[in-house]
Amino acid sequence: MKITVIGAGNMGSAFVTQLTRAGHQVSVTARDGAKAARVAAAHPGARAVPPEGAAAGADAVILATGYADAVAALQAVGDLQGRVVIDITNPLTADFMGLTLGHTSSAAEEIAKAVPGVQLVKAFNTVFAQVLAEGADFGNGQKVSVFVASDSEPARQTASAIAESMGFAVIDAGGLKNARYLEPLAGLNIYLGYGAGLGTAIAPTWIRKA
Ligand SMILES: NC(=O)c1ccc[n+]([C@@H]2O[C@H](COP(=O)([O-])OP(=O)(O)OC[C@H]3O[C@@H](n4cnc5c(N)ncnc54)[C@H](OP(=O)(O)O)[C@@H]3O)[C@@H](O)[C@H]2O)c1
Repeated sequence: MKITVIGAGNMGSAFVTQLTRAGHQVSVTARDGAKAARVAAAHPGARAVPPEGAAAGADAVILATGYADAVAALQAVGDLQGRVVIDITNPLTADFMGLTLGHTSSAAEEIAKAVPGVQLVKAFNTVFAQVLAEGADFGNGQKVSVFVASDSEPARQTASAIAESMGFAVIDAGGLKNARYLEPLAGLNIYLGYGAGLGTAIAPTWIRKA
């Protein structure tokens, strides 16, 4: 697929690593063009592009900025009408130990409202950057899960296909409203990783009795 990654930080660069490894055509854009260029240079198969027009022709756009920058970052790439946008953000407080919204809305729903016309899907927000960078196979037959929530069927399918192409197990988490559950789940993951000291080589999953 043709995939545009917005943001060249911890998650953006890890996406570029795994997406190029999976054989996708990857464009990466960032506020700081030099940062995007450095990430692209380290990954054959990736190219750095300026924000304006960065999503043209893309099968999917991965939004890998902080939540506070999300809407501005999407607006900076220009026309996104009908485009699949994968929202990985968590609306974290400054100390990373709480969420700035929830219960009656979610980061995903707020972004969808602010950028109408995109096919928004929540995914990957419970996957630590270390886990994304190192890969989905935890050994012993354990695969990291990606929870996918969207009101758009094409967006759900695209995000699921991308996750599977990188080796993740996909859990269909229903409509976009369920981002209200997925964002606190990421909050618990952050608490366990940093607050409880388990480190960032952990990931939540769901199990079902055979
Ligand atoms: N880190 C994790 O383990 C993890 C796990 C799951 C989900 N997430 C979520 O993923 C998102 C990214 O996290 P991160 O750790 O990768 O953060 P990060 O390292 O701070 O990277 C964010 C990137 O977004 C860029 N950016 C900001 N505004 C932009 C704009 N208008 N256009 C293009 N790029 C812009 C920043 O550029 P500058 O350098 O110029 O500021 C920076 O490169 C967050 O919403 C976070 O909650 C993170």
